[in-house]
Amino acid sequence: MTTVGIIGINGMVGRNVQAQLQKIKHPFELKTFGRNDEIPALDIAVLCTDNPVSAALVPQLKDRVRFMVDMSSQFRMTPRIPLVIPEINPQTITGDTHLIASPNCTTTGLVMSLAPLRDFYHIQEIFFCSYQAISGGGKKLLDDFHTLGSLYAENCVPLIGSIQDNGHTSEELKGLYETRKIMDWPQVKVYCHTVRVGVENSHSLGITIKAQENFDLEQVKKLWNSFPHLAYSDDIITPKQASGKEETFICRLRVDVEDPKIIHYFVTFDNLLKGAAMNGRQIVELLLERFFK
Ligand SMILES: NC(=O)c1ccc[n+]([C@@H]2O[C@H](COP(=O)([O-])OP(=O)(O)OC[C@H]3O[C@@H](n4cnc5c(N)ncnc54)[C@H](OP(=O)(O)O)[C@@H]3O)[C@@H](O)[C@H]2O)c1
Repeated sequence: MTTVGIIGINGMVGRNVQAQLQKIKHPFELKTFGRNDEIPALDIAVLCTDNPVSAALVPQLKDRVRFMVDMSSQFRMTPRIPLVIPEINPQTITGDTHLIASPNCTTTGLVMSLAPLRDFYHIQEIFFCSYQAISGGGKKLLDDFHTLGSLYAENCVPLIGSIQDNGHTSEELKGLYETRKIMDWPQVKVYCHTVRVGVENSHSLGITIKAQENFDLEQVKKLWNSFPHLAYSDDIITPKQASGKEETFICRLRVDVEDPKIIHYFVTFDNLLKGAAMNGRQIVELLLERFFK
């Protein structure tokens, strides 16, 4: 029987991955591991751990585990390690792959909205401002949020990750570099601000994109609605409605007042699901179907 292990079972992502893997039809045996557990040989391991833990575990598990799916950002930008959203770039996983990185949650919401347009519009510039939920910071941040006097209560905090030498945060640089890698658009411009807001779950983004062509709004809506796990609505959709759902929701589509090559829209999605655990499940499903039939 194929074995699939979850490492970091007690974290926010680990628990959600466990629930997600239960939806898989293909037979497999599930094993779960916490902080001090010994990890045996496995066919697939999903690492739901922070960067330093993933950095230490990957070389240790290399010879014992056939495929590793890492939720952290540790290996996302390493050349030849696929950064995968199964709806967008499943072909980047091959028989030679050992480690697969699952992307940043905010970047996931952005690229889900870009991928359906890629055969019709040449997108050159992307601007977004994020409104990121507390659960995106893991269980420590959620505990902090529920503590009296938390900085995040009824507030917006324009700092996610750490400020780098160039003044951008690590989260903002993920939005730039991970978008380029997933979309295979090495030249695309991405300008962004990432902001944590006092919302418990589901990330949102206000997005503006510029293409070489004039946008046809009805075509854009059709492309979005025919893409898996994406739903456009002319009604307003909020993070509360997106929570617990597998779709990435888009609303408020409009063309720019002055430039028909620019559109503006709003995206909201469950950061723990499509932004993490559901994407992990989809990668595991893909591996089971391709390599363990
Ligand atoms: N939250 C999100 O929306 C989201 C989205 C995309 C990606 N990610 C990424 O996913 C990873 C997990 O995030 P999270 O939000 O689930 O964080 P979290 O709630 O802090 O969970 C991390 C878990 O890792 C466990 N752990 C630490 N060292 C370990 C070890 N040596 N072996 C096994 N488990 C160990 C911790 O155990 P203890 O319980 O004992 O402390 C904890 O349960 C991070 O890299 C994060 O950046 C998160």
